[in-house]
This record gives sequence, C-alpha cells and structure tokens, in this order.
Amino acid sequence: MEKLAAKPIKDSAVDDHTYKVFPNDLNSYGTAFGGMIMAICDRTALVVAERHSKKTCVTASVDSMHFLRPAGQGDILLFSAAINRAWTTSMEIGVKVVAEHYETGEKRHILSAYFTFIALDDNKEPTAVPPVSPKTPLEKRRFEEANDRRERRKKEAEERKLKRENFSI
Ligand SMILES: CC(C)(COP(=O)(O)OP(=O)(O)OC[C@H]1O[C@@H](n2cnc3c(N)ncnc32)[C@H](O)[C@@H]1OP(=O)(O)O)[C@@H](O)C(=O)NCCC(=O)NCCS
Repeated sequence: MEKLAAKPIKDSAVDDHTYKVFPNDLNSYGTAFGGMIMAICDRTALVVAERHSKKTCVTASVDSMHFLRPAGQGDILLFSAAINRAWTTSMEIGVKVVAEHYETGEKRHILSAYFTFIALDDNKEPTAVPPVSPKTPLEKRRFEEANDRRERRKKEAEERKLKRENFSI
C-alpha cells in the first residue's frame, strides 16, 4: 500500500469537547445513560480518525471501555481523544471522559476507552493511513502500548473466527 508521511498527534486531537447532562440524558437509576456517553465517545474518536486520515472511517472495534464513576444531572462532560498509533489501514484512538461539577468545579475521570477505526476509499475498501509521529513521553508511551493491544485484538479476532467456524454461526 501507498506510504504516507507521518503526522503529529496533536494535529488531529480533540481536547475537552463539552456536553451538558440534562434530565433527558439520565437512565432509570438517575445517572447519565452510558449508551449516550458511548455514542459521543465514538463520534469524538471518529473526528480524530477522519482528521488524521482525511478519509471516511468506520469503527471496527472498541476495547477496554470502563465506566469508572457515574455522571449526574447538571454535570459537564469533557471528552478528549487522540490517535495513539496508525498501522496500514487502521488507527487506534484513545478517548477519556471527565465529569465536571458545575457548582464546585470538581473533576472526576469517568470513562476511558480505545477505539479502532478503519479508513475507507471511494469503493469502501480499507485504504492506507499516514503513520503517527509521537513526540512527548506520554505520546511515546501510548504509541508503544497500542501495539500490545493490537496484538491482543488480532488474537481475539482469530479466536472468534475459529469459534464461528466450529459452531457454524
Ligand atoms: C472494519 C472493516 C472495514 C474491516 O474490513 P476487513 O475486510 O475485515 O479488513 P481487513 O481484514 O483487510 O483489515 C483491515 C484493517 O482492519 C483491521 N481490523 C479488522 N477487524 C478488526 C477488529 N475487529 N478490530 C480491530 N481492527 C480490525 C485489521 O487489523 C486491518 O488493519 P491494518 O490494515 O492496519 O493492518 C469491516 O469489517 C467492516 O466494514 N466492518 C463494519 C464496520 C461498521 O459498520 N462499523 C460501525 C458503523 S461505523
């Protein structure tokens, strides 16, 4: 596949995209509905993937999505997302969500997750993406760790494939 020039991580990153939690965002338990937060994470990560690749991208997988604490009515949700690493046609985007209390300003880390997006060409086939050039120590650490997660995703995908073949589903 075509070899493209590496791009800095900060060029595609999203910092503190805000979302105010209203009553219609709550679940029956009275806290922010997780599915709503997941959808905003997916959308925010997609923006990063499309900014980086300049292509239409689709979500291939999501891993390590952990809700660490609940968010409540009135909280301001802050979404941050950045590309950790790009391979041939795929990119891993890390997303972090922080809930800020509107009165006290207290901030709580409520969710982190890794999204894998694939860039598609005009024929909807996977197409080459530029590599990333990590610069800061944090970017370099995330860059290295992304490879381990990719290996795990590939292994899990293989195992799922084997299971499907064995059980014909
Ligand atoms: C994602 C998709 C395009 C991959 O197509 P495919 O024919 O399996 O692609 P390939 O096997 O050629 O792999 C292409 C890339 O996807 C990656 N990939 C495929 N399945 C993956 C998975 N489950 N998790 C992470 N990466 C995955 C491969 O590692 C490869 O990356 P690389 O080129 O950087 O090495 C295809 O499975 C698809 O269209 N899925 C549905 C996507 C969708 O509808 N998302 C929700 C709405 S946006």
